[in-house]
Amino acid sequence: MSRKFTLLIVDDVAKNIQVAANFLKDENYKLMFATSGENALRTIQENEIDLILLDIMMPGVDGFEVARRVKTTTKGKNIPIIFVTAKSDEESIKKGFAVGGVDYITKPFHQEELIARVNNHLELTVLRKDLERKVIEETEKRLKSQEMLIQTSKMADMGDMIGAIAHQWKQPLNSMAIVVQEVLETSKFEDIKTEDIQGCVDKVLDKVRFMSDTVGDFRNYFKLDKEYGYFDAQEAVQKVFNMLCPQFKKNSIKVHISSSAETVVYGIQNEFKQVVLNILNNARDNFIEKKIQGEIEIVLMDAKDFLSVNFQDNGGGVPEDIIYKIFEQNFTTKKNGNGIGLFMCKTIMQDHLGGDITVTNKDDGALFSVLIPKRSMNNQIIT
Ligand SMILES: Nc1ncnc2c1ncn2[C@@H]1O[C@H](COP(=O)(O)OP(=O)(O)OP(=O)(O)O)[C@@H](O)[C@H]1O
Ligand SMILES: [Mg+2]
Repeated sequence: MSRKFTLLIVDDVAKNIQVAANFLKDENYKLMFATSGENALRTIQENEIDLILLDIMMPGVDGFEVARRVKTTTKGKNIPIIFVTAKSDEESIKKGFAVGGVDYITKPFHQEELIARVNNHLELTVLRKDLERKVIEETEKRLKSQEMLIQTSKMADMGDMIGAIAHQWKQPLNSMAIVVQEVLETSKFEDIKTEDIQGCVDKVLDKVRFMSDTVGDFRNYFKLDKEYGYFDAQEAVQKVFNMLCPQFKKNSIKVHISSSAETVVYGIQNEFKQVVLNILNNARDNFIEKKIQGEIEIVLMDAKDFLSVNFQDNGGGVPEDIIYKIFEQNFTTKKNGNGIGLFMCKTIMQDHLGGDITVTNKDDGALFSVLIPKRSMNNQIIT
């Protein structure tokens, strides 16, 4: 069962409080009283008040001042205040609204009028609270589904990534096999010296370290990382490229990364990496489809409060009749595409990182520009 509404009646004249209380006694409200502004402020701080009937003219802290102070507190800012006053001059009414009152009622008032106004504002409060709750629920739902989308998209990259690991490991595995075989062959014809063995062991350990690092990069990428913090954007771009490097090499795609700015930014590193990965994979798909000798120029540069990370490819660009649709959910021109890659990039950049991603056609290809804030911003939507 919902709790009774609590009304606070504030007036320095006890008789006036009595009249108002008497009018409201059959309305099933819990009534509280204060005979001074100071008392009223204390009562509001210590109780859950749903509505205040507030006299203006009081010695000490007057009604306007009570309202002004109540409205600056988290607890009090949403409590409706109805001014009850003998003053009906326009100035007082204006001032009452200016300090946060929602309504006013002039003395002497009728019982019906008082009840109607109180009920109106309580109803409005209930509706407002309901609306606020719904907005919070909807926002939570939206964030949940965004999160699922981001994770699904990461999983969709998994196949690609396993292929990339296989490529990355081919060369070190071959080298290790050769080293081991050399040891065996040499041992057939001569005694092997300890320092030769040490040399071989060092070579193998070096390769093992490389393999372990690459697996670390992949594992980090798949981690559900939601931590905001400062990180080096150039390093993040480089790490993503390292993961894709063997595959890009196989398709003769050249990537060049350069920077003309301080590259530390604020956000969720893994989500930024996901954006980079999607842009690079899209460019790769396009090169392969069009059988183009692909080149991607990645330039990081200053853009006031943001760092701009630009990806210029030479893949012919995005056809003008679809360029305005490519960030929409489910839009794809690929046989096996899901059409969530760029939609997810937009969601991450705008909703999670407080930046943006845009595309234009420039020179002989597409130019994707990613804006990421350099510092934490207060108005950023943080999940
Ligand atoms: N660099 C590019 N050059 C030309 N067209 C591009 C480029 N990047 C993206 N596109 C176009 O944008 C479309 C949408 O890309 P998006 O990443 O959202 O989906 P997708 O790659 O088709 O599927 P997936 O969900 O698997 O990523 C692509 O299908 C492609 O037509
Ligand atoms: Mg894609």
